[in-house]
Amino acid sequence: MGFYVTTPIFYVNDVPHIGHAYNIVAADALARWHRMRGEDTWMLTGTDEHGQKILRTATANDSTPEDWTDRLVESAWKPNLEVLNVANDDFIRTTEPRHRDGVQKFLQRLYDSGYIYYGEFEAEYCVGCEEYKTSTDLVPGQGEYEGQQVCSIHSRPTETVKEANYFFKLSEFQDRLLELYDSRPEYVQPASVRNELRSFIAAGLNDLSISRSTFDWGIKVPWDEKHVVYVWFDALLNYITAIGYGEDDESFERRWPGNHIVGKDIARFHAVIWPAMQMAAGIEISERVYGHGWLLVGGEKMSKSKATGISPEQITDVFGVDAFRFYFLSAIHFGSDGSFSWEDLDSRYHSELANGIGNLASRVIAMINKYFDGQIPQNAAEPALAELFAGATDRANAAIDEFQIHDAVAEAFSIVDRLNGYITETTPWVLAKDEAQRDRLAEVLATNIRGIGTAAVLLAPIMPESAQKLWQGIGGEGDIADQRIQDASSWVGSDRVGELPPLFPRIEQS
Ligand code: MSP
Repeated sequence: MGFYVTTPIFYVNDVPHIGHAYNIVAADALARWHRMRGEDTWMLTGTDEHGQKILRTATANDSTPEDWTDRLVESAWKPNLEVLNVANDDFIRTTEPRHRDGVQKFLQRLYDSGYIYYGEFEAEYCVGCEEYKTSTDLVPGQGEYEGQQVCSIHSRPTETVKEANYFFKLSEFQDRLLELYDSRPEYVQPASVRNELRSFIAAGLNDLSISRSTFDWGIKVPWDEKHVVYVWFDALLNYITAIGYGEDDESFERRWPGNHIVGKDIARFHAVIWPAMQMAAGIEISERVYGHGWLLVGGEKMSKSKATGISPEQITDVFGVDAFRFYFLSAIHFGSDGSFSWEDLDSRYHSELANGIGNLASRVIAMINKYFDGQIPQNAAEPALAELFAGATDRANAAIDEFQIHDAVAEAFSIVDRLNGYITETTPWVLAKDEAQRDRLAEVLATNIRGIGTAAVLLAPIMPESAQKLWQGIGGEGDIADQRIQDASSWVGSDRVGELPPLFPRIEQS
């Protein structure tokens, strides 16, 4: 079985913020999970570098788009993946020849099969979104734009585009798209995004302008070099050009179809335009489009343009990368909006990580050192708890099939919470005083080790470094990522506990 997961490719007009990082760590956690199931997994991320938004930013910074994009990719976007400890298998830039060639092949195919025509048009365009807007997408402006209609996302007026260019016959695909939605309810998730897009399609689709001739920062239309390809049409194709579309059939067959993790604001491109493009080109429709919610700061979508942007390092420098990954993947229901606040992050860090799993592991390891000289008792886990470990593993694994990452994390933490309660109930330090209770003490500590082992394996895709430390602490051998996640509860442990490196040090507020 294979699993191909993608993030959107990010605009390089600016540096990454935690909204982007949220998307990336979610895709990475899913990829790591599927890898740990033993599936043939591939994770792709990258950068979206063409179009007016990037061109204007480069010009405003006295740079060429080539220099600007190179600089941002190398100094900000690739390092961001290190900051977030992302194990992507590939990184695609839309300025690469492999992408350009694939886009041109795809476009030529659509042109040759009659899905593209030349026409005149006039429309409103938001360069911030790189999107044509209809009146229903606009809202009344405020402040300097009082009295004008503005883009609901960027709060700025749109620009009127009036040119002759090439169109994709999107309108022809309405029925087939509705059929796709009805026959494959899982194709677009969550249901809120699916319902919204289904109504959007049912209301009727307009053909889409897919080329521009008033600037040249883009991929040339192969049969008419005065035009460059519309940036979204170019961008969506990254998902196939990166895996060898039109170039390496074996790789393409092996990876495709993909699972796209996108913010809900760009779900329309991925689940209306993209499947129509796939139908027109005769390639298989993507496996899934999952539209997650927004990170809100102060009740608004966090964004750099509205000055509410927070960089990932601001958080990882203080709390560490695993706390970052854990926080965003557990505190926010994947699919809904979620508010970020430093107070919430700090409180979950201390209660769930430092006092929750960190404290549990260090206490159990210390007791095994103290009462059994570091030898792990080989008793089976107490049946009721063994059942919980197995059940939590199955439920977490099922949650991942539904992309419900927060539920999978909650299952792992149900084990941690239960074990903390179990220690309080069984009071091993009292049992240790009574030789007659030696076997019971052994059972209690063995149960704890097995449960921590299960939780560590389940948390490895979410918190790779901390899970590895936990693993070493409980005497696990090798790389925890080599464990099979569906067997997380069958791990029986090794002979001896190891050293537990500090996991989640307390953070004093300065
Ligand atoms: N370049 C396009 C995507 C092309 S994919 C073929 C793009 N880029 S983006 O950099 O503007 O946004 C990338 C992703 O970041 C989107 O999925 C968007 O939803 C997400 N987010 C941007 N701000 C966000 C939040 N505040 N919260 C959550 N996700 C956010 O769109």
